Amino acid sequence: MATFATSDGTTKYAARFAGRAAAGHFREQQGLWLSSLGIGTYLGEPDERTDRAYTHAAVAAVEAGVNVIDSAINYRFQRSERSIGAALAELLRRGYSREELLLCTKGGFLTPDGEMPADASEYFNREYVETGILQEGDVAAGCHSMAPRFLADQLERSRRNLGVETIDVYYLHNPETQLDEVPREMFHSRVRAAFEFLESAVAAAKIHFYGMATWNAFRQTEDSTDYLSLATMESLARDVAGGSHHFRFVQLPCNLGMTEALTRANQKLDARTVPVVEAANKLGITLMASASMLQGQLSRGLPSFVKAALGMTTDAERALQFVRSTPGITTALVGMNRIEHVGTNLSLVKVEPASQDQFSRLFERGKQA
Ligand SMILES: NC(=O)c1ccc[n+]([C@@H]2O[C@H](COP(=O)([O-])OP(=O)(O)OC[C@H]3O[C@@H](n4cnc5c(N)ncnc54)[C@H](OP(=O)(O)O)[C@@H]3O)[C@@H](O)[C@H]2O)c1
Repeated sequence: MATFATSDGTTKYAARFAGRAAAGHFREQQGLWLSSLGIGTYLGEPDERTDRAYTHAAVAAVEAGVNVIDSAINYRFQRSERSIGAALAELLRRGYSREELLLCTKGGFLTPDGEMPADASEYFNREYVETGILQEGDVAAGCHSMAPRFLADQLERSRRNLGVETIDVYYLHNPETQLDEVPREMFHSRVRAAFEFLESAVAAAKIHFYGMATWNAFRQTEDSTDYLSLATMESLARDVAGGSHHFRFVQLPCNLGMTEALTRANQKLDARTVPVVEAANKLGITLMASASMLQGQLSRGLPSFVKAALGMTTDAERALQFVRSTPGITTALVGMNRIEHVGTNLSLVKVEPASQDQFSRLFERGKQA
């Protein structure tokens, strides 16, 4: 039995929804069948009530047609990963198998364990500096590291928190955070070293793919300090591991209020400059959208032209429908720890993504509004 999402496992998962999921809800990427909606676990208090809520929400989401689960070691001080670990154990008890689900998490930000310690610098010194995990110069912006020794430590913690042998997608978390103070050449050599480590983690079956989960990097104009070129990042992976490298996933915000992934041509590829959705497609990299509802803000008050273009009953549905229908986006991640949000959002599983015509109408109307 494989310890990660497989082609057979995700095919079996999609088949569970035959007759219940609309055409286009599951998409094939990297040989896997992935749902157009995924559950995120960023927001919420670091308390037991929220821990339990995320566990229930993740179980309910998988039962309703979501096989993409997203977390990060720093979300709610490691508690979100542990909530997902508990959900996974419950799902295995209910007859799902590990191979059906894409488990994604991230490392890079220094994070406490479960709660904010009374003296954070004493905690980080004891846990990371005295143990030699972090050394002089490893930390940028006071909170971020991509040093291989640190990533190795963080990966072990995430595997433990999630209770899995293999993490499907391990992202460097907001690596562009470092660009405020690290010169670009040094940044590239750090990314290269991180990729070398991540390829070794693939070889050890601790992860299956790796990537970058970003906020600004791939959406910015090329002259921005924290801009990143996807082709350059891919070429670093290629240097490390050749054409069969495992840098295959990128996460970035995409929603009705942040459309740059689709609309800003900022990625040089051969002789052209194209938006990141096009660059990712050419480079064989799968795109996951974060903040699909702009952290809940797009769940109400959308302009009427959105309703006119997309139809549907609520603004929350329209916001998610936009992201899951964006050409080049595989999964729209939405944070939801309230079970009623799982219910409402996953009513979209039985709805086909917007047609090209509906989608274009949205942009036409948007220009006039
Ligand atoms: N740089 C990065 O790597 C990065 C950055 C941001 C996000 N992410 C990932 O992307 C995921 C999604 O982004 P996000 O959680 O920041 O924001 P989001 O998905 O845009 O919004 C989540 C918020 O919307 C609320 N919500 C969900 N469904 C709703 C509905 N039907 N009606 C009203 N409110 C609703 C949620 O409430 P409840 O939770 O109370 O249900 C939560 O407060 C994250 O969880 C994380 O996994 C990654």
